[in-house]
Amino acid sequence: MRRPSHLPLLALILPSVGLVVVDASFRSSLSSTASTSNARGWSVEDRLGRPHPPPPLPPTTTTTIRAAFVALPPHPAGRRRRRRSLPSELAASSSSSSSSSSSSSSSSAASKNDAPPPLSDAYDVVIVGSGIGGLSAGALLCHYGYDVLVLESHYAPGGAAHGYSVFNKEANGTFVFDTGPSFFSGLNPNVKAKSSNPLRTILDVVGERVDCVPYRTFGLKFPEGDFVHSPNFGMPSGPIDIVSGNGGVDQWRSLMEGMEPLARAVDAMPTMALRGDVGVALTAGMFLPNFGKLNPLENLKLTMPFSNIIDGAGVTDPFVRNWLDVLCFCLSGVPSSGTITAEMAMMMGEFYDEDATMDCPVGGARSIVNALVRGIEKDGRGRVAVRSHVSEICVEDGRAVGVRLRKDPPNGRVIRARKGVISNLSSWDLMKSGIVRPDAFPPKFVERRVSTPACPSFMHLHVGFRMNKEELSALQAHYIYVDEWERSVTDEENCALLSVPSVHDATLAPEGYAVLHVYTPATERYERWENIRRNTPEYDQLKEERSEFLWRVLEKVIPDIRRRAVHHQVGTPLTHERFLNRHRGTYGPAIYAGEGSFPFPNTPIDNLLVCGDSCFPGVGVPAVSGSGIIAANSISFDTIGGQLGVLRKLKAQL
Ligand SMILES: *[C@@H]1O[C@H](CO)[C@@H](O)[C@H](O)[C@H]1NC(C)=O
Ligand SMILES: *[C@@H]1O[C@H](CO)[C@@H](O)[C@H](O)[C@H]1NC(C)=O
Repeated sequence: MRRPSHLPLLALILPSVGLVVVDASFRSSLSSTASTSNARGWSVEDRLGRPHPPPPLPPTTTTTIRAAFVALPPHPAGRRRRRRSLPSELAASSSSSSSSSSSSSSSSAASKNDAPPPLSDAYDVVIVGSGIGGLSAGALLCHYGYDVLVLESHYAPGGAAHGYSVFNKEANGTFVFDTGPSFFSGLNPNVKAKSSNPLRTILDVVGERVDCVPYRTFGLKFPEGDFVHSPNFGMPSGPIDIVSGNGGVDQWRSLMEGMEPLARAVDAMPTMALRGDVGVALTAGMFLPNFGKLNPLENLKLTMPFSNIIDGAGVTDPFVRNWLDVLCFCLSGVPSSGTITAEMAMMMGEFYDEDATMDCPVGGARSIVNALVRGIEKDGRGRVAVRSHVSEICVEDGRAVGVRLRKDPPNGRVIRARKGVISNLSSWDLMKSGIVRPDAFPPKFVERRVSTPACPSFMHLHVGFRMNKEELSALQAHYIYVDEWERSVTDEENCALLSVPSVHDATLAPEGYAVLHVYTPATERYERWENIRRNTPEYDQLKEERSEFLWRVLEKVIPDIRRRAVHHQVGTPLTHERFLNRHRGTYGPAIYAGEGSFPFPNTPIDNLLVCGDSCFPGVGVPAVSGSGIIAANSISFDTIGGQLGVLRKLKAQL
């Protein structure tokens, strides 16, 4: 019944807010992109320091926001005040649970030797999964004053962004590897924040900083030759000029001019202003005047596939078109025909503004994860518990009431969630892993989510190698490699991304050594690995075969890398599947702009929300952080006050 009551209101605000939301989604997608690139761009990994590398975040794209918005289920808000009687099972377990802290170890922040304090029996919000999405949601909710528990199955928080360390005898020291995203921008606390970067917004809100080394260039190894990419990419005497001459430079300029109003539109509506209920009229409404000043026709372009914009700008030069395809693929996992324009509008600013810089987080991507964990735990409000596998999200009468931990005795302790449960699982895993009773969702809903197309998986190679400072300073921190343009960048063994964070960060390897990881983004077919068991000779052989391409790419940058290597690990689709608990080790959903849209956080189960890379705005670090923000804002109408407070600050910065 409450649904119907919201509908007229929704209908009223949709015409105006729908646009805004769209825009917002763009922005989020954008931002995601921006960072996304990171996310997906480079890395992923695995755990235990053992055998493998991590999976990167998937790329993505946003999509039709409007559709997403319209689809939002109205919302649990009204009921929050009703006290429900506890399901008996919960009540029983909660009374017996005081002793059970043992199996959940606490997160990074707490560590030392002291055992972490026992978990409570109930929190306002329980978050399942500590990916950047779940952590962002947790940090924001703590800021709003909620008690939050984030439960992570792995021994380290961060999802695809958790890093791993390995001690190496020969180097007599530790190598620190990123397991997922490794390409970031907009995080540097010494640079003014852009409200369009959701991750930065969260870090600022909780007052945590991530020290970064700024840099401006990365390498390209293309069939046409080697180039250094910088904001001057399309300027006279830049790579486009060298390859295509004036014609290419003119086309590039015309594209950039066309992007300007789009970038402004993206900047006009922060992801932070979004929420999955009608409160969006208030929160997004604050930014409507800005957004409304812009040309609505331009704003509408934001949801289109980016290839439409490229065509519209009259870009025919093959080098320019190829580059834009690669860039889209790296950011979103799909080429320009599937990447949403909003994402690119944001990314292009991050790449080509005069003062554009990228950020190398000192200590690796895990520094970002640690900052979010600190944000959650600092006032004692929130808690991140690792090695705490959730076996069930408990649903009673169509509403999520808590979670059951796998290990806790006797049959799995139940922890109650007063306001709601946020799932950081992928769509496929939430629907198919059995974590939620299969009949709890309407069959149609399950069918829709499960049939979301998935990007292929990826191969990863992590290497610790000998290299001194001078040699390192001659390298770029990232390279994008393409074998030949005759094949698509989405083909197997054509495109690879290489990240050498040691170029900017000396803390990742002992002196005289460096770390790198190279991977094929979203092109490795899971089917090849599907019937192979880990830790068999067959598996080892396939690993060797399938990592050969990555070694060959590496040799183009560091010709004697095999001789220099003192440590290496190969990550496969099975690594990603296992360590990240991800459906078929996928890079992420393959949702094409114009064809589908990423879902908003609400689900048909009351008080169960979702975040992560299968949600709006999409794949990539900024995007998933944005998904966490929207989930947190949507947990109840009670968040509106806190959200407006944050928005007022953001607006003052505009
Ligand atoms: C949770 O989402 C993050 C991105 O926020 C992703 O890296 C991670 O794999 C997700 N966790 C699971 C279990 O899918
Ligand atoms: C390894 O490093 C430690 C200190 O970090 C040092 O005490 C030790 O002598 C080193 N071992 C070798 C073989 O160099």
